[in-house]
Amino acid sequence: MKRLADKVALITGAGRGIGAAFARAYTLEGAKVAVADIDLLSAQTNADGLGNDAFACHVDVTDQTSIDACVQAVIDHFGRIDILINNAAVFDLAPIVDISRDSYDRLFGINVSGCLFMMQAVAHRMIDQGKGGKIINMASQAGRRGEPLVAVYCASKAAVISLTQSAGLNLIKHGINVNAISPGVVDGAHWDEVDAKFAAYENLQPGQKKRLVAGDVPFGRMGKADDLTGMAVFLASDEAEYIVAQTYNVDGGNWMS
Ligand SMILES: NC(=O)c1ccc[n+]([C@@H]2O[C@H](COP(=O)([O-])OP(=O)(O)OC[C@H]3O[C@@H](n4cnc5c(N)ncnc54)[C@H](O)[C@@H]3O)[C@@H](O)[C@H]2O)c1
Repeated sequence: MKRLADKVALITGAGRGIGAAFARAYTLEGAKVAVADIDLLSAQTNADGLGNDAFACHVDVTDQTSIDACVQAVIDHFGRIDILINNAAVFDLAPIVDISRDSYDRLFGINVSGCLFMMQAVAHRMIDQGKGGKIINMASQAGRRGEPLVAVYCASKAAVISLTQSAGLNLIKHGINVNAISPGVVDGAHWDEVDAKFAAYENLQPGQKKRLVAGDVPFGRMGKADDLTGMAVFLASDEAEYIVAQTYNVDGGNWMS
């Protein structure tokens, strides 16, 4: 028996990276998946590769009209939503004295408001459906402690951990389990961009920051998107029924809490 048989999942930021890996893993476990991204072309490309169980959907998680339209599109296509993964996020870095309001507003708009109002929109539907549901938010080891150049992203991910706790406690009475996954350093296009930003501020060669962070991971390497899929399947499955408001580190041993 597949662990997510006939469940309907909505995954934001699923056009590439970790979200794309989640979409693939979920379809392999029997789920029907709405691959949602602000980049509709990448969502469409990913969904096309997954066959009839996947459907591409545009969403800008900073825009309530777009959130509502995406949720409605998933209901129209699949009939309901059982699982939400709040995966869309963006990164930036700067020393405190250089942080711009634009960067702050963008990161908090996508990483924090986007997470909250996606949860809200999907929770409304799950409550109406009357069969509970599973919500998984993507946190980060960055949300566990500050970093000198990464204040806003770290604060945004600390907020995701806090929102997960409050929403988890509030929604469990409806049978909706809200939990989070906290990755460490996961290689891919996202970290290529992170590496380039650190290189500019820390006077490093391209690829050097990646090698430094990889060397610090107790497991011995950076993570891969597929390292996270086991936890994402588990938290969305019936096996996770009694897990409420938790954030799980899946980071090769980088953080213990
Ligand atoms: N890669 C890592 O090392 C790492 C570490 C810890 C946590 N995370 C978290 O895991 C999640 C996935 O990370 P990733 O590495 O796959 O990132 P990524 O940058 O590869 O993918 C993010 C996706 O979000 C989409 N997106 C951006 N803004 C959006 C918006 N307004 N509305 C909808 N979609 C939008 C992008 O188009 C992209 O497809 C993120 O929440 C990230 O913060 C990643």
